[in-house]
Amino acid sequence: MTSSAKPKFRNPRAKFNFQGRTCSIAGVGSYVPSKVLTNADLEKKVETSDEWITTRTGIKERRICAANEFTSDLATHAALRAMEKAQVTADQIDLIIVATITPDMPFPSTACLVQHKIGARRAAAFDLEAACSGFIYALEIAQQFIMSRTYDTILVIGAEKLSSIVDWEDRNTCVLFGDGAGAAILQNRPNSHGLLTAVMGADGEKADLLFMPGGGSRCPATAESVASRLHFLRMEGKETFKNAVQAMQIAAEEAMRRCEIDISRIKCVIPHQANRRIIDAVGERLGAKPEQLFVNLHKYGNTSAASVAIALDEAVESGTVKQGDLILLVVFGAGLTWGAAVIEW
Ligand SMILES: CC(C)(COP(=O)(O)OP(=O)(O)OC[C@H]1O[C@@H](n2cnc3c(N)ncnc32)[C@H](O)[C@@H]1OP(=O)(O)O)[C@@H](O)C(=O)NCCC(=O)NCCS
Repeated sequence: MTSSAKPKFRNPRAKFNFQGRTCSIAGVGSYVPSKVLTNADLEKKVETSDEWITTRTGIKERRICAANEFTSDLATHAALRAMEKAQVTADQIDLIIVATITPDMPFPSTACLVQHKIGARRAAAFDLEAACSGFIYALEIAQQFIMSRTYDTILVIGAEKLSSIVDWEDRNTCVLFGDGAGAAILQNRPNSHGLLTAVMGADGEKADLLFMPGGGSRCPATAESVASRLHFLRMEGKETFKNAVQAMQIAAEEAMRRCEIDISRIKCVIPHQANRRIIDAVGERLGAKPEQLFVNLHKYGNTSAASVAIALDEAVESGTVKQGDLILLVVFGAGLTWGAAVIEW
């Protein structure tokens, strides 16, 4: 083999005696509610300013569900768009995974509600909870089923109605979050590597940096728990910020190391859209050029598990990412959890 014929990257899955199949994203889709909540709107709710929110976070506006619109509705819209792009019908879907921290109800799973709404009668369905890292966790799990030939077609969704758990009286958090959903159809595509590798990590010791105290078995809803505002998310902003930058850098570097590539080979870095300063700090540490970083958080804020899924859809739709390009997804969330994935588009 001449040096010019050297492979562009190493597929870490293609080990000796590798009998599995590769797993590609056959189509992506996203959906955000139509109601826009701007920084100016928030100035009327809490003591804040467009200037503070813009300089500290990069967020200008976010989308908010209507009162009768739920996570399963957002997920269904995004799923139908991804299915159309992948040219997949509901009866082809073997499995639905919904990554969310805002399910319609504690049970049944939102994935089951989506299964019914799209008419995917053959599909198994479950929810996955890894907070803002959920979409990469779900991609990795789905890939295992495709590689092992257990399933042929899997629908992975990240969907959140975060407006339902945000404390609209807490200016430290309410300016950061929004609602939305992104979906992907995963299938084997011959002659394509698809999802090359996915790194996942967690640190439960830091669970109290970002959490919702009420609503689970530890603190079921009571008049007191509601009055104490325990059913809203709580966050230590500064510590979360520091941990996010470090974990995202380490995960991204590990994913690229496994593929034997450096950042110059990546066409598009799609980071979790939580804060512009986190994105820039991670980009700088990875040595990425500003034009490699995909950013849409000015429009949507932090949509947790939906964040990179929506961004991936927009990167593809805008032509930023084309077939054969390498994409680096990198995420961070409550748990703590984090992850990174390299995908050949
Ligand atoms: C939340 C975050 C934007 C705050 O930015 P920061 O630079 O750390 O700001 P600080 O915590 O130093 O707060 C500075 C001041 O602004 C105030 N402040 C907080 N929110 C404000 C708001 N919306 N408007 C105006 N002032 C605000 C604080 O009360 C504080 O005032 P003080 O100095 O009088 O106490 C930032 O820490 C962050 O993005 N953290 C990560 C959050 C995240 O991504 N979470 C999800 C992970 S998946």
